[in-house]
Amino acid sequence: MNIVLGVGGGIAAYKSALLLRLFTEAGHAVTVIPTEASTKFVGVATWEALSGRPVTNDVFDSVDQVNHVRIGHEADLIVVAPATADLLAKAAGGHANDLLTTTLLMARGPVLFAPAMHTEMWQHASTVANVATLRSRGVLVLDPAVGRLTGPDTGPGRLPEPEEIFAAAMALISDVPDATPVTEDAGSPAPLSTEPEVAAPAAVVPTEPAASVPDTSKRINGPLSGVRVLITAGGTREPLDPVRYLGNKSSGKQGVALAEAALAAGADVILIHAPMEVPAPAGASIQRIETALELRSATLAASATADVVIMAAAVADFRPANISTGKIKKRDNADDPIIRLVRNPDILVEVVAHRAAQNQKQLIVGFAAETGDDQGDAQAYAQQKIVRKGCDLLVVNEVGPGDSGDERVFGQDTNHVEILSLDGASPVQSDGSKREVADAVVHLIAQRLAAG
Ligand code: CTP
Repeated sequence: MNIVLGVGGGIAAYKSALLLRLFTEAGHAVTVIPTEASTKFVGVATWEALSGRPVTNDVFDSVDQVNHVRIGHEADLIVVAPATADLLAKAAGGHANDLLTTTLLMARGPVLFAPAMHTEMWQHASTVANVATLRSRGVLVLDPAVGRLTGPDTGPGRLPEPEEIFAAAMALISDVPDATPVTEDAGSPAPLSTEPEVAAPAAVVPTEPAASVPDTSKRINGPLSGVRVLITAGGTREPLDPVRYLGNKSSGKQGVALAEAALAAGADVILIHAPMEVPAPAGASIQRIETALELRSATLAASATADVVIMAAAVADFRPANISTGKIKKRDNADDPIIRLVRNPDILVEVVAHRAAQNQKQLIVGFAAETGDDQGDAQAYAQQKIVRKGCDLLVVNEVGPGDSGDERVFGQDTNHVEILSLDGASPVQSDGSKREVADAVVHLIAQRLAAG
């Protein structure tokens, strides 16, 4: 594949040398385009030596080869790492004043930005709006990692690790295979690994697909007849050692109700689920996973052929950086253990980017469990979330204790949701059993599909 590696002007530019290595070692031809500012951090000679190709950012170099048009045209993938606040602004605004920005404007294939900047810049309203604009166009903008920044400060803004950027980039250009059906009880515990920092490139290949083969003889004629609906459900578990994990309160009830509602509407349903308190419904193709990375592999694989994707799973945003191969012991004379977490990929954002990269016609529905705080109410956060994620619909429920002090959503049989639309259509409210809410979501999906 022809990959363009754009390098922005930040101290993290040196990490892109490793990213370049990962691309070339995987057999890709890489054209590096550093911005002028970035060459103050890493010189052109480094990029030429590592890529084995001439490197420039000057649109007036080799004018006969019309580089400002050709490079973008020929690119199968463009990765910008580090992406500075300035580069994100230029890309969102359609600027074209150097070779990297003209290339971005010419690109018709997938584009990935790996941001790196100070926390204040990342959280500034301008950057937030620019990232939302890019994501709404199907560009994959990774979230920066959280940690130590250039100065004494820490926070979100670190460049994600090169291996993580590489894995996300490969997911964008891979021909994602279909999930292979096997038996339903194949939900094996998550494999233990001593190198869990990054999603391995092979993560797009489903490693433990576990699908029961649905009984197609019982197919129902309904508004979703012939429609392939992929639903994720349950709460992921992120292993700490062979017996412990980080989990969440999701019961899987809403996801299962959605699967039942979609089946009742005639859809072919693939349910990919993390552990749940309720059984998976008969009639769906079932695949069981445990961790967020497994969910990502299975979801990206199955979404390649899905007409509708509903991401109802509660995905852990973080996983332990190291998984102990033996049970973590308490020892009288040792310090209490400190568990370092690393960020999981945002699967919903990746599904949206994949749809755009493959030019696929697909309706994507996200879920949001929100709580309000002194900075804003749950609705305001949900509105930001649908823009950030780029999904077509967002089913929002406010979680946490209600007036009675009891939990409102998790584990309950009822739900109250508001369904937001990215296109600005009026929100739809639904109240009742989780099945009633699921029927409302399925009804809205059927309406959208019918409207084309
Ligand atoms: N999601 C995902 N991958 C993640 C986290 C969430 O695909 N790593 C999906 C969920 O399945 C859901 C949607 O994103 O459809 C929103 O999940 P939620 O937990 O509400 O949002 P977060 O992205 O985790 O944002 P925050 O925790 O900051 O509210």
